[in-house]
Amino acid sequence: MSLIVLKTFHYLAILFAGGVLVGGGLIQGVFTRANQVPDINVSRVLKILGYLGLVALIILWITGILLSSIIYGGFAINTAFTIKILAAAILLIISFVVNIHVYNSSKKNQPPNKLIMKMATMSGRSLILIVLVAAAIAFN
Ligand code: HEM
Repeated sequence: MSLIVLKTFHYLAILFAGGVLVGGGLIQGVFTRANQVPDINVSRVLKILGYLGLVALIILWITGILLSSIIYGGFAINTAFTIKILAAAILLIISFVVNIHVYNSSKKNQPPNKLIMKMATMSGRSLILIVLVAAAIAFN
């Protein structure tokens, strides 16, 4: 029962983290291509999306740690799993850094740095792909 609950939350959080990366990236891309800075309301949406992404990653870590301990007795599962948690750790750090950056710039009434946001979205997409492929191989 607890395994089912943990897995359900793990999968739900994957849905949210992926949605944030796709949706947030799309909004940013449209504004960058139009050479415009998002207005106050769109900025608010982007801020909430970033926050949701961080919460989803934290849920992935909590449920992931519990799943690994209950099913496999720890993190020493296989190489693919090690790659999966390494990529997930980098993703978590990026999400933290971006959320802090967005928070600080909105406090100063400035738009977030374009380069930081672009790099974060691009590396976030690649990293989530790496995590998913590694998960598919690890639990094959
Ligand atoms: C971005 C973060 C993450 C993503 C996208 C992700 C994705 C996935 C996916 C797609 C599966 C299903 C694999 C399958 O059953 O074939 C899975 C299962 C699993 N994940 Fe994650 N995961 C993430 C983070 C983590 C973390 C940080 C841990 C551990 C610290 C973890 C531990 C596990 C475990 C143990 C399972 C397997 C449960 C089982 O045997 O059924 N995950 N994850």
